[in-house]
Amino acid sequence: MKSIVLTVTVLCASLWAGAQQKQPVYLDLSQPLEKRVENALSLMTTEEKVSLCYAQSKFSSKGVPRLGIPEVWTDDGPHGIREEVLWDEWGGANWTNDSCTAFPALTCLAASFNPKLSLLYGKSIGEEARYRNKTVLLGPGVNIYRTPLNGRNFEYMGEDPYLSSHMVVPYIQGVQSIGVAACVKHFALNNQEEWRGHINVDLSDRALYEIYLPAFKAAVQEAKVWSIMGAYNQFRGEHCCHNDLLLNKILKNDWKFDGVVISDWGGVHSTDQAVKNGLDLEMGTYTDGLTTNGKFPYSDYYLAKPFLKGIKEGKYDIALLDDKARRILRLIFRTTMSANRPYGRFVSPEHSEAARKIAEEGIVLLKNDKQFFPIGSGKYKKIAVIGENADRSLVVGGGSSSLKVAYEKSPLEGLIAKYGKDHITYSLGYASGPALYGREEPSKLNADSLINAAVEVAKQADVVFFIGGLNKNHFQDCEGGDRKSLSLPFGQDKLIDALLKVNKNTAVVLLSGNAVSMPWINKVPAIIQGWYLGSEAGNALAEVISGEVNPSGKLPFSFSKKLEDNAAHFYGKISYPGDSINQYYKEDILVGYRWFDTKKIAPQYPFGYGLSYTSFNLGTLSTNKSVYSKEDVIKVRFTVKNTGARYGAEVAQLYVNDPVCSVSRPVKELKAFEKVFLQPGETKVVEMDVKVSDLAFYDESRKDWNVEAGDFILQLGNSSGNISQKLKITVK
Ligand code: BGC
Repeated sequence: MKSIVLTVTVLCASLWAGAQQKQPVYLDLSQPLEKRVENALSLMTTEEKVSLCYAQSKFSSKGVPRLGIPEVWTDDGPHGIREEVLWDEWGGANWTNDSCTAFPALTCLAASFNPKLSLLYGKSIGEEARYRNKTVLLGPGVNIYRTPLNGRNFEYMGEDPYLSSHMVVPYIQGVQSIGVAACVKHFALNNQEEWRGHINVDLSDRALYEIYLPAFKAAVQEAKVWSIMGAYNQFRGEHCCHNDLLLNKILKNDWKFDGVVISDWGGVHSTDQAVKNGLDLEMGTYTDGLTTNGKFPYSDYYLAKPFLKGIKEGKYDIALLDDKARRILRLIFRTTMSANRPYGRFVSPEHSEAARKIAEEGIVLLKNDKQFFPIGSGKYKKIAVIGENADRSLVVGGGSSSLKVAYEKSPLEGLIAKYGKDHITYSLGYASGPALYGREEPSKLNADSLINAAVEVAKQADVVFFIGGLNKNHFQDCEGGDRKSLSLPFGQDKLIDALLKVNKNTAVVLLSGNAVSMPWINKVPAIIQGWYLGSEAGNALAEVISGEVNPSGKLPFSFSKKLEDNAAHFYGKISYPGDSINQYYKEDILVGYRWFDTKKIAPQYPFGYGLSYTSFNLGTLSTNKSVYSKEDVIKVRFTVKNTGARYGAEVAQLYVNDPVCSVSRPVKELKAFEKVFLQPGETKVVEMDVKVSDLAFYDESRKDWNVEAGDFILQLGNSSGNISQKLKITVK
């Protein structure tokens, strides 16, 4: 009897358990985000957790299908939404619904010195990403402009940690306000493309903290970025995608980053390090076409089978896996599984408008003798437009930021629309080869014939616009290689000389993401630095050239006269590009204008420089006190007046110097800036807050920031090279 009861009980119990198992498992979505993460994690198997940590295709990773947790879809970034590619390859998938708006390159955004535009940029590109159903936008990039040869400078925000920090934060906030994760990259010290996959960078802690980390820190702590991409290179002997110091200690422990560390594509090299040193999501390993086109199943990724095996064998603590899975789940709940995620839009008129505004505000007028510009329509009958960049796509090429666009208005089209086609004659003048990634191919056209034809056109013209610069070819502004020299390529210097011989009324417009040398600088009346301006390039340039828009961009990096004048090139090969294995940043904290000013080397054009069609006056600089304690905020005040006859904007810049300090400090460090828009004759009061703690240097002996008591000199100007006022304050 007893045994019958027992059997029935066991039978009932197992039937009940079976029925229980068949109940579908639902996530509890009613809870706050962290509880949802824990709930999801508690329902997942070890296999499911591991499967979150590596790619399933070129740009995506798995979700948890059983629980309804969606896949993660990443996409480049940072200037537009990259076209769909094939499942396993870099090649385009030839979809017909993915031609995007191209926004100006980040160098141009930085040159606007306008954080409001950065927010607009972020929102607009976030909406494009959202419409294309992307979870993560692979950008923005904030690697510091250390050398003008770096092939990827155009994707970054210049040489100054303060400027890049203040421009990157609103971009990220904008993107993430649309429910798309930004992925700030490339963390860290990916300041050149040469040997990027292995070069082992070292530098002082002071340079690391003062120059190379601040923009990433701002992205994490102020913008609360949801993901970050590790860099390809090594730092102190470990690849940055699994670097204990960078990822575990600085990023996750000190900065309390709670998002996902994503590897750069193919940047992972070891299971052990990937597991232990802070990587969360492995992308792009080996099937990537970077090193081989051979197949390498995703399940063989470092964080796939080998990771699972290690967990099962007890080699890796399950807490390491839970931490990665938790971060990835958090990202998914913040984006695709967020209940109030906004909708996106794609190639909308508002996005074109945003792209044009950013382009217009980023264009920098470098030289303008005798008010050469603006040139209103009707001023000249015959306008010669010379140069390949006037008529070439500058959104295609350059590596991962290459875009398939809905439209791209070229400078030539913009100028024709502005001045009328009867007034414009175009000649190519020089030619580069085809835009190839991975190799350089010269043009098959004859250089001398191109020059002769352009000279004939220039001779007949009242005015000549030469539109050249760099392009997105390999060894120009392009990922995967550095430029070979500071000079303009494809014989442009020779062409400019030839044009000037027959027509002195020749202006130079440079489209590039890097500084170039200008041997013809004293012979040309006017120069415009026009960056890569995206879909609205031609419209924006024509508005500035014709004066509908008054230029207000400022250089986000110094232009040197010659390559050797740059800090990175001063100390020989070990400093740039390294000895092929190791590299040491010998210039230390003296990057960009910090170097030029402190070493008294005159740049061609200084950081923060840019002209306007009107003129401005910066009024008397004053502060709320003259003696401060270390906890205080310095309240700075002055006026800006538009003293000319046109509406325009000036960027007031406040630099600080600490003349007596236990360590040597740069002559200038940017601590605040403000872009002020003014009608003719108008005056505005500007107030800036500078925390005394922001005057600190990174003290290696204390491993912490330190403000030493003493005098500090505030310097107000409209570029690092033009300080109009100084004021001494004291810190007790
Ligand atoms: C680049 C990244 C990019 C990734 C995916 C890498 O080669 O360094 O910036 O996001 O590819 O395209």
